[in-house]
Amino acid sequence: MVTVTASAPAKVILFGEHAVVYGKPALAGAIDRRVYVTARERSDRTVILRSEDMKTKEESLHLDGLGMVDTRGEFRYVKKALELAFDRAGSMTGIEIEIDSRVPPASGLGSSAAVSVSTLMAVLTLLGEEVSIEEVARLGHNVELAVQGAASPTDTATSAFGGILFIQPGMDSEMDRYDRITVADLPLVVGYTGIERSTKVLVDSVRVLRQRFQKIVDPIISDIGRITGEAKRMFETGDGEGIGQLMNINHGLLEALGVCNDRLSRLVYASRNAGARGAKLTGAGGGGCMIAYTPENQNDVADAITACGCNAFSAHISIEGVRVEKG
Ligand code: PMV
Repeated sequence: MVTVTASAPAKVILFGEHAVVYGKPALAGAIDRRVYVTARERSDRTVILRSEDMKTKEESLHLDGLGMVDTRGEFRYVKKALELAFDRAGSMTGIEIEIDSRVPPASGLGSSAAVSVSTLMAVLTLLGEEVSIEEVARLGHNVELAVQGAASPTDTATSAFGGILFIQPGMDSEMDRYDRITVADLPLVVGYTGIERSTKVLVDSVRVLRQRFQKIVDPIISDIGRITGEAKRMFETGDGEGIGQLMNINHGLLEALGVCNDRLSRLVYASRNAGARGAKLTGAGGGGCMIAYTPENQNDVADAITACGCNAFSAHISIEGVRVEKG
């Protein structure tokens, strides 16, 4: 029986979250924390899903039950990814999927995207399919769309390709554009509030705010788009001070959209006071994580976050995206 392990990195959104849902660009970076998915072929028609990190450690179902749309349950991303992988391959098999994640779930670090793209890669490889990274990114985005209803390609593309990407969403996923940004290093400290939150709920809250105050919210979304474009130029010219300043402005506009909370704010200000060049929430907000840009004072910033009672870790950009693990 064939066994394949694939892994994919978590990500941070550097600029442009929420605005990207309305067609504006985003800048995101894969970070050096990975999700590992092992797929083992079975001789019967059972699907077994296992993860020590989830509250339901194991779920088993019959292959025929996979096609049913299930947007709840902890293994929903894995099930959808399996279904799309079987569709793409035109064949299916009983299978055991084991997830080993080094990424806290529902924290804004893209754990579900990393699970989706590594499941797709492991299962398609197990079925003997040749698949490009572009295709895994596109299928991964389709998994998120099916499970969440609305999702930009940011998380799945960054996890699939790795590195730093400038993402310009198109009218449909075939038209999304990705530009790779090359930087020598981007030292970050990630602060985790410990508050799990739902991306869908936060995206909905911005939609409702926009429905009520469109003339006010639309310019904020456009400004975030402009900040992201300007940040791309700052990366290209190596203007670290500018990157930090733009992060701070971006954070202020996310506050204005109502997706920040007191704990995130506290971590952002503590980081800036400890010498970060810039700091902002990352991802959907409402809890989850923030990032601080720390070419210097990295330890002081991490200590300041820890002093607020939250977890901090330093992160570096992972150049490698999704990959099949050897042996
Ligand atoms: O919560 P995260 O890290 O998955 O980020 C969501 C980013 C949003 O722009 C809010 C939503 C999206 O689909 O891009």
